[in-house]
Amino acid sequence: MTQIARGLQGVTVTKTKLSLVDGMGGRLIIAGFPVEDLAPHAHYEEVLFLLWNNHLPRAADLEALRSEMRANRILPPATLEVLAAAARAEMPPMDALRIGVDTLSLADSDTKDSSEEANRRRAVALVSRFPSVVAAYARLRSGKDPIEADPSLGHAANYLYMLTEKKAHADVVRALETYLNAVVDHGMNNSTFTARVIVSTRSDMYSAIVGAVGALKGPLHGGAPGPALNMVFEIEDRAKKSGRTMEAEAEAYGHETLEAGRRLMGFGHRVYKVRDPRADVLDHAAVKFFQGVGDTKLYEDARRVEQVMLSLLEQHRPGSNIKTNVEYYTALVLHGIGLPVDLFTPTFAVSRVGGWTAHVLEQIREDELIRPLSEYDGPVDRVWVPLEERR
Ligand code: CMC
Repeated sequence: MTQIARGLQGVTVTKTKLSLVDGMGGRLIIAGFPVEDLAPHAHYEEVLFLLWNNHLPRAADLEALRSEMRANRILPPATLEVLAAAARAEMPPMDALRIGVDTLSLADSDTKDSSEEANRRRAVALVSRFPSVVAAYARLRSGKDPIEADPSLGHAANYLYMLTEKKAHADVVRALETYLNAVVDHGMNNSTFTARVIVSTRSDMYSAIVGAVGALKGPLHGGAPGPALNMVFEIEDRAKKSGRTMEAEAEAYGHETLEAGRRLMGFGHRVYKVRDPRADVLDHAAVKFFQGVGDTKLYEDARRVEQVMLSLLEQHRPGSNIKTNVEYYTALVLHGIGLPVDLFTPTFAVSRVGGWTAHVLEQIREDELIRPLSEYDGPVDRVWVPLEERR
């Protein structure tokens, strides 16, 4: 009997220098740095440099990368046309991002050049343009014109500027950068695996990144923070209407969800069997941010809901160690800095494209076709019947 690794659970497919995910120890190391040291301190561009070069940039390296990124923020006219069509069709932002990203190869002067140098340039261009695509779409769907990038702003600050036409406060930019750094890479997650599978056939980086966007969209991967936040809002709303405590309403909500066989969003992880270390990083970022603006109610409500859900999950599946994952606190941070719920997953993509491109470069160097097996589970002795004789 063939041993089947359902969902490839427990299967190690490659070596990587990009990130270590320690599911039992609750550790995430990004190219040598614990996430809790890197995420709250680094600029996103420094983390990109680290992933692409396996060492931190010196000042001159960072300036050179920033200048290359600034020069790559403009979108090809066809991308804007496609995004305008997506806005007219009222597409969800993740679908618009997928379609928009596919058109970015139009800005590539030589798509046939598959050298390491050309792929590195492609990686910079893709990462630079992701925020432009998301922000342009967010504006177009509200009937507004896209805003040109501001060359005086870094990657994170410029993303917020292109969304709002206002320069964000330094604390808001810091919170966003901490988020972008915390989720930039995470071992062999589904979207990264998708990108590596695509490029392992010697296909191109654009195809790999479009596939990765598609994989990220699902609620079992990057689509969870919106529903997680909506859960907290719904419980707040129920408590307001009923006069009962948040805990009582959370318990009722949790029971209803689990008894209906649904999942509680923002909890559980394929690899982590302890609290996701990124949840800690973003928890700290969230509390700092909400204290800074002088309103911690949502944060405190979310903490109370979290405690109830953890205890319900333990009762529901004793010993299965379903703990809080990154998406729960992602929702708080991104909501706190003013992003609408349906831009949470596209903002995840704005960060993760850094990890995807680094993995694509690593996979191209490795040049190993990823091609698992399946066990056939159907009949083998059917007799062919010509169409006219079939009943
Ligand atoms: N609520 C209720 N039940 C759960 C949950 C949850 N959040 N998480 C796991 N379970 C159940 C699951 O239904 C399964 O039950 P059964 O065997 O009866 O089908 C059992 O626990 C096995 O769980 P597992 O093996 O630990 O989980 P998995 O590896 O299959 O799935 C997961 C991991 C993240 C898809 C899952 O925990 C989940 O659906 N969580 C909710 C969605 C979510 O928060 N997604 C964000 C993931 S983290 C960010 C990222 O990867 O990008």
